[in-house]
Amino acid sequence: MEIKKVGVCGCGLMGSGIVEVSAKAGYDVVVREIEDQFLEKGFGRIDKSLSRAVRKGKATEEEKKTARSKIKGTLKLQDLSDCDLIVEAITENLEEKIKLYGELDKLVKKEALFASNTSSLSITEMAASTDRPDKFVGLHFFNPVPVMRLVEVVRAEVTSDETYEAAKKFAESVGKTVVSCKDTPGFVVNRILVPSLLDAVRVLESGVATKEDIDNAMKLGCGHPVGPLQLADFVGLDTTYHIAEIMFEEFKDPRYAAPPLLKRLVKAGHLGRKTGKGFYDYGKK
Ligand code: CAA
Repeated sequence: MEIKKVGVCGCGLMGSGIVEVSAKAGYDVVVREIEDQFLEKGFGRIDKSLSRAVRKGKATEEEKKTARSKIKGTLKLQDLSDCDLIVEAITENLEEKIKLYGELDKLVKKEALFASNTSSLSITEMAASTDRPDKFVGLHFFNPVPVMRLVEVVRAEVTSDETYEAAKKFAESVGKTVVSCKDTPGFVVNRILVPSLLDAVRVLESGVATKEDIDNAMKLGCGHPVGPLQLADFVGLDTTYHIAEIMFEEFKDPRYAAPPLLKRLVKAGHLGRKTGKGFYDYGKK
């Protein structure tokens, strides 16, 4: 099936990035949010990123205008009914996602594919809650979506070959390189990344070195673009904690157990860049 029109649920950090790369690739995009203020915020992020791409020589002013004209925002799920692909990027809560898929399943055309951008929840469970499990797949983008080149295409037991191939083709068409993976918590990247972020917190917690030295060690010693504590702040300490909890629940492996310091920061509301404070202080939000 040919994908021409893409529906995106959620215009947060990930959703707005998915909207942007899809529109840049020439798709007609409808993005649905639950409140006007979230749409406004998301569109602000898209405009800023498109302008940044022009400044960085990654796009022309004309391409920016064309991409922007392809995006429509809505509060009504009904407006997604004629989309060929739905990419869901709402909050990481299985019940909420399943509830949304239940509604989408009734109103979106039967041939359309459903994809979740979840970073750790079960694609199989979401697929099984719909009447089109064979048309369900995971499309896991990375933050910031316009810059990071990877998409994990997650194939659940129930995903058909046609759906997998169409999802892969879509991800490639928006300029990403695909890795294919099975439906297990954390897929490939977070399965490896999250325990390494947790280890960095454990090193800090045990007083081996300061946060600055831990980050510099990994940047200068291993060539990472940012240090692990900076990266945890960037990803969000709540998100890091939440993914770790899901993986620990599944594997019962201490590598995925969130260290007390991480938990305390989350409980204190220090969630990283988005709240202005995490391991580092970013000043005002
Ligand atoms: N659109 C297109 N391209 C853009 C752009 C935009 N809006 N903004 C920047 N770019 C391009 C730039 O042109 C530049 O490309 P070149 O190297 O080819 O010139 C590149 O992106 C880097 O841009 P900058 O030099 O302006 O930015 P930087 O050096 O400050 O790097 C960063 C920014 C790439 C985000 C860097 O900080 C980084 O790599 N951070 C780590 C990000 C990361 O690891 N993300 C994954 C998180 S894990 C996750 O998302 C999964 C999960 O489930 C939790």
